[in-house]
Amino acid sequence: MSEPMTAEEITRYVVARAIWAPSVHNTQPWRFTADGGPHLSLYADASRRLTAADPDGREMMISCGAALFSVRLALRSLGYIPETSVLPDPGQPALVARVSWRERAAADEFEQRLSGHLLTRRTHRGAFDPEPLPPGALAALRTGAAREGAALRIVADDGHRAALAAAVQGAEHQLRCDGERVRELARWTPAPGSACRDGVPATSYPARPEHTEPDFPGRDFGRGHGWGLPPLSVAMPHRAAGVAGLLTTDSDDPVDWVHAGQALQRILLTASACGAAVALHSQPLELPWLREFIRAQLSDGAHPHLVLRIGLVTQVAISVRRDPGDALYPAGP
Ligand SMILES: Cc1cc2nc3c(=O)[nH]c(=O)nc-3n(C[C@H](O)[C@H](O)[C@H](O)COP(=O)(O)O)c2cc1C
Repeated sequence: MSEPMTAEEITRYVVARAIWAPSVHNTQPWRFTADGGPHLSLYADASRRLTAADPDGREMMISCGAALFSVRLALRSLGYIPETSVLPDPGQPALVARVSWRERAAADEFEQRLSGHLLTRRTHRGAFDPEPLPPGALAALRTGAAREGAALRIVADDGHRAALAAAVQGAEHQLRCDGERVRELARWTPAPGSACRDGVPATSYPARPEHTEPDFPGRDFGRGHGWGLPPLSVAMPHRAAGVAGLLTTDSDDPVDWVHAGQALQRILLTASACGAAVALHSQPLELPWLREFIRAQLSDGAHPHLVLRIGLVTQVAISVRRDPGDALYPAGP
């Protein structure tokens, strides 16, 4: 029989998985601290916050929430029951969570399946195949979001779907005209072949936008340089926008943002486990007037955090991360 893992080994195992969580522009705005005991702390790294796009740190906290879900799931995959306190210290707003593990219980089959996608899930950018999602997939995504204190609202009505797409189009247009935001995006979009281990690499988005009906334009990661992945084939008929949805919370405080992030990562991993992929659009949620429009008109007054599109597609995107050691620090003053 093999020796049980030490707390230090467990921490390294968990952090090596958590860093593959999604984050806005792949900023990876997190730091983990540990002291060799069966616990770790997760901090938001404000030096990685988007100052123009995310002045309140909402997207930073959503990103950290996604990493927190991965920490919990990785511990479950090792047979530990994580005990989590979110934003435990009002005097330390950057302390997103403390997580400890003492009690044991074997992971169930669903947890094992989800954890198998922690390292391999990728954000999709572009259109989807026309085939429908497997039966039960949407219900599983919605239930998962609710378990994390958020909601996944499917925008099925044609008029609402068109309005949501129009909000993404309007936002994308405005963001491309805003010099400060364009410069900020440039900071997080390295040129092809770059050795950067953060930001959105050219191996993770299409060189040419794939239009759908209605159209949900992606961000301008290539910024006119022609960077990005070539199309998979010349003719791609019948490409679809996928099932559109909104990730929302009932209130809009930092604790809700962390819940939204945990729900996001649960949704993304559940989708992966169902063989589906998800495209994310935060453009209209970064503009207060469009966020308010979506809240009032499309999400029954709940606070929207992300537009999601869910569908089936062959994924070829490759992303990058910093070394786990660059995000893990010894605890202490
Ligand atoms: C809060 C948040 C907002 C995001 N917004 C967008 C977006 O508007 N467009 C996009 O293509 N990806 C978006 N993403 C996905 C990130 O770009 C992606 O997670 C990151 O580049 C890492 O790539 P990976 O998810 O494939 O590992 C967002 C992610 C988060 C957590």
